[in-house]
Amino acid sequence: MGRPWLLLSVTSAAALLGGQLAFVGSATAVPDLVADRPSAAPAYPADSLRALGARTGLKIGTAVNMDQLGSNEKYTQITAEQFSSVTAENVMKWAEVEAVRGTYTWEKADQMVAFAKKNKQLVRGHTLLWHNQLPAWLSSDGYTTTLSNDEVKAVLKKHVFAQLRHFKGDVWQWDVVNEAFDDNGQPRETIWYKAWGGTGYIADVFRWAHQADPKALLFYNDYNLEFTGPKSNAVYELVKSLKAQRVPIHGVGFQGHLSTQYGYPDLQSNLERFAALGQKVALTEVDVRTFTQADAVNTPVNPLASYAQESYWSRSLKACLAVRACISFTPWGFGDSYSWVPGWFDDPQEGAALIYDEQLNPKSQYYVLQQDLALAAGAPRR
Ligand code: G3I
Repeated sequence: MGRPWLLLSVTSAAALLGGQLAFVGSATAVPDLVADRPSAAPAYPADSLRALGARTGLKIGTAVNMDQLGSNEKYTQITAEQFSSVTAENVMKWAEVEAVRGTYTWEKADQMVAFAKKNKQLVRGHTLLWHNQLPAWLSSDGYTTTLSNDEVKAVLKKHVFAQLRHFKGDVWQWDVVNEAFDDNGQPRETIWYKAWGGTGYIADVFRWAHQADPKALLFYNDYNLEFTGPKSNAVYELVKSLKAQRVPIHGVGFQGHLSTQYGYPDLQSNLERFAALGQKVALTEVDVRTFTQADAVNTPVNPLASYAQESYWSRSLKACLAVRACISFTPWGFGDSYSWVPGWFDDPQEGAALIYDEQLNPKSQYYVLQQDLALAAGAPRR
């Protein structure tokens, strides 16, 4: 108890576990931290997100844009120094790895895995089965295909084994099935649903994935699970039913695409109820967008918006820290210039969703995460 940071951590742990305290507007430097430093000096700063996360065993991740990694020096350095886990934002998706039927192109994904190994980072595999970003030969929209049902089943099985075997031993968590339900909690009637005549494809894909790489943690991943409602309830029932059938599912990924225009979700109780089913949970794609200017898509219309954004970031991280089963917290990228948000939400315009600005300088949102991690030593270790 002799060190100042430890004293701080006790008070903040009480705040963390007791409620929804949010640090807003503060960009104070954290104390110089020495605890938990491995004997060999790490190649990343002691006050980096990854170093601070290590104190509770929480991996701090980022989605990686392979157009920037390696070619953009500042981007590459931040990726290495700040994060202990990486997710391919696009290069492991089916359209990228098998654009031409039967011809696999793993090069960019392999580069990311090599980068992760070099920098002692874990890899989240994203994503094996989704209705978006499918190769043109398979489906242009995820809901229609020229292939027969039997062919659809066969190509999916081949895809799962090809991908899992290629990355066998290199991927910590796989997003096996992504976004299989709509916001009303109804199963999306995708080419998979149609080929199987229902949601039976989900159990098959998890079983195949487990057969191909028995050590990988296999996740169901979706957005809006943060809020209790029809979708979160449907996925909860799905997981219960998969468990009852002894399907190898190990975790549920909460994407965490939040916007200040909506109220903050009851995230922690949703993490807890999935954890109570024996699942790992993870925040897999966090960003917090707000209304921005049409001609400056990462400049908030309301200069006070950053306070709300800081609060949402902080509460999401604290929700994860408070639940021992929550093993990783991954923002969906870090620099506002490379975020998917301004291109997708443009009427009205939203943006400024990440923790570094367009010049890759840390924003107040970054410092809030840094401070929360620095003060979280009382959170359960994972
Ligand atoms: O594939 C073409 C490529 O050939 C071309 O060179 C390039 C030029 O612009 O466009 C390429 O495709 C784009 C791709 O990103 C790669 O940059 C697509 O048009 C674009 O739609 C795609 O957007 C991605 C989006 O998923 C697709 O739905 C975003 O970067 C990515 O952040 C986003 O990520 C998803 C998660 O996977 C699942 N959860 C939601 C999340 C946000 O939508």
